[in-house]
Amino acid sequence: MLEESPILIKTTHFDAELRERLDWFLQQPGCHWMLTWSGEGEPPELTITRRGVFLSYGTEQLSFHPSMALIRLINLLRGGSDRYLEATQLKAGGSLLDATLGLGTDALIGAWAVGEKGRVLAIEKSPILAAMVQDGLNHFKEMIPNSKSRDKQEAWFALARVSPQIKVSWGDNRNYFSNIPTRSVDVVYFDPMFRQTYEHSHSIQPLHRWSDHSPLDQATVVEACRIARQRVVLKERKNSPEFRRLGFDILLGGQYSPVDYGVILV
Ligand SMILES: C[S@@+](CC[C@H](N)C(=O)[O-])C[C@H]1O[C@@H](n2cnc3c(N)ncnc32)[C@H](O)[C@@H]1O
Repeated sequence: MLEESPILIKTTHFDAELRERLDWFLQQPGCHWMLTWSGEGEPPELTITRRGVFLSYGTEQLSFHPSMALIRLINLLRGGSDRYLEATQLKAGGSLLDATLGLGTDALIGAWAVGEKGRVLAIEKSPILAAMVQDGLNHFKEMIPNSKSRDKQEAWFALARVSPQIKVSWGDNRNYFSNIPTRSVDVVYFDPMFRQTYEHSHSIQPLHRWSDHSPLDQATVVEACRIARQRVVLKERKNSPEFRRLGFDILLGGQYSPVDYGVILV
């Protein structure tokens, strides 16, 4: 995780909106910013543009975009199934604690499932990821493109409606849990960085660089079982020994998928 590296922050234009967005980033906890750079080499850079916010490091670039959530939601709106929703069993009006936010794809699908009367709390240990996803959620409506596809438009608007419900916190999930009352959220969800990475694609590489790779520990799972009212869910690589080590029952399904979901009913 590159959290200790200072990040050069800049806007592409001098307009008030971008300035306001820059000031918001400067206030986010845990991030180390620099407004100018006179050192050697290329520092990581956060560029705030009229088209969104981009984090670059060398040739890699990361930005918040709900692309995977849109694909999944289009499938759901067409009557398809979603293994994450089958595993979490989230219902309208319910509550989710996403303990490993990442780029927010699962949190968005969870927010859609619990709807406008539901609640989603999301924790992310990387301060820059937490800030970028919260910023993306704050500016979700501005990202909606004009699309001729009705399904796509419907999915964009549905996610835009529920995105304000996701409350992002920067921090370690274990520390965060200790302040949460017993049996206060329906579902606690973990999707840690996989112990053995099977994805080497260029698109996933920036997330690897900025995210925390430490394994989930038993004490954190015990705390999750204390605060969950219904279940604790773990997503992991197929056949991962993590399920057994941490006490999760693997759900059947996803024969051709590289991942499985494990559940502890509480
Ligand atoms: C595989 S990603 C999650 C992807 C996410 N489910 C999504 O849909 O975009 C795992 C994330 O969990 C974060 N993480 C790892 N350990 C954590 C911890 N102890 N507390 C909070 N976040 C953690 C990592 O930094 C990483 O961003």
